[in-house]
Amino acid sequence: MADGEKIRILIVDDIADTRDNLAKLIGFEPDMEVAGTADGGQAAVNMAKKERPHVILMDINMPDMDGITATEIISNTVPESPIIMMSVQGEQDYLRRSMLAGAREFLVKPFSADELINAIRHVHELEKVKRARYAAAAPAAAAANPLAASPAARDNGKIITFFSPKGGVGRTTIATNLAVALHQSTQKPVVLVDGSLPFGDIAVILNMSPKAKTIADLVGSFDNTDSDVLESVLVSHSTGIKVLLAPPTPESAELITGANVKHVLELLRERYAYIVVDTWPSFQEQVITMLDVADVILTLMTLEITSLKNVRVFMEIAEKLGYGDEKLQLVANRNDSSGGIKASDVEASLGRKIPHTIVSDGRTLVLAVNRGVPFVISHRESQVAKDIFTLAQRLTAGAPEAAAAGAKAPARASGMRLFAR
Ligand SMILES: Nc1ncnc2c1ncn2[C@@H]1O[C@H](COP(=O)(O)OP(=O)(O)O)[C@@H](O)[C@H]1O
Ligand SMILES: [Mg+2]
Repeated sequence: MADGEKIRILIVDDIADTRDNLAKLIGFEPDMEVAGTADGGQAAVNMAKKERPHVILMDINMPDMDGITATEIISNTVPESPIIMMSVQGEQDYLRRSMLAGAREFLVKPFSADELINAIRHVHELEKVKRARYAAAAPAAAAANPLAASPAARDNGKIITFFSPKGGVGRTTIATNLAVALHQSTQKPVVLVDGSLPFGDIAVILNMSPKAKTIADLVGSFDNTDSDVLESVLVSHSTGIKVLLAPPTPESAELITGANVKHVLELLRERYAYIVVDTWPSFQEQVITMLDVADVILTLMTLEITSLKNVRVFMEIAEKLGYGDEKLQLVANRNDSSGGIKASDVEASLGRKIPHTIVSDGRTLVLAVNRGVPFVISHRESQVAKDIFTLAQRLTAGAPEAAAAGAKAPARASGMRLFAR
């Protein structure tokens, strides 16, 4: 779609008042417009095929064909139109069935105008990224995107990027502790990169001076930055690792391009055995670069349906980017039996193994944070620290482990088709 084109939205609801209200809210947004309305599932399917809207708002309970059935059909026939489910039913079962049918978001009625608009922007943004990357990556993803291939043969540093399409799952915590664990167990040089450019909080977690140098000190001179210049903005931490801090403000983060990020990471490869990169949940150019150049992407997830949904979308993108099973590895963080869904169910629905798990241990984490010391040092004997050391060990081991870690999960015997796409 051309830049500046409005986000075209199809509204599906059997109640005329609801359709009118939604249309009114959308009308307030200068970059959105209503592509059409439908009062039932069958009408929605027809309209979606004809209009190919950018986003579909779909009610669940409708008299002729219900919204879940319509979603299933549309996700197969018009896959480029992402669907946001709307329902008064906030129950897990509805949410679950919608997601399994291929919906991208779920809004519980009544929702605010902000929630609606944010959800539309969010799914549209993701779809745009997907489309752009599909185009760039087609037809043979790996061949058209040489960066995606794991540079396994190289004997210089290994880039390990932490990613999650959702915030608050523990990326920064785990990335920081893994960097320290890698250094402790190999005694090799390790650098931790706060690639969460607009919202970096590694400086806080590691108790570093607010006056410390950051990547923002390179703005304006990235082209002249060599290993030595780069070294001068790295900060030494008492744990023995080096840290490349994120800019102090989101505004300065905007001055750093994907090409700058690539240049920096490639330079770090020359001197460091392990480069651990934290990110933020976004598909902006800088993040895509951190994913592209990585040898391993550790995709953190928690065992909740919302996390599952986001990871599924990310995996679709990752596949088009040519990231294979060895490159993209799932990590279940805060893994415990209470609440949420079972790891085995997630594995079956994603058709993919979760090779790494980290237990939930809020108490240890809080104690460690209060002391200002990574828990792999202050609470080395805790299970959560042991899980990090296990992860470190697997990442430093040779090819066999990596291959085992990336192995496909066996398909579930029932052959249940969990996702529409
Ligand atoms: N394994 C875990 N057990 C308990 N709490 C955790 C665990 N991992 C992360 N947390 C907590 O989750 C919160 C979010 O972690 P953070 O690393 O900031 O996530 P992100 O970087 O993904 O936004 C923090 O309060 C952190 O202490
Ligand atoms: Mg973070």
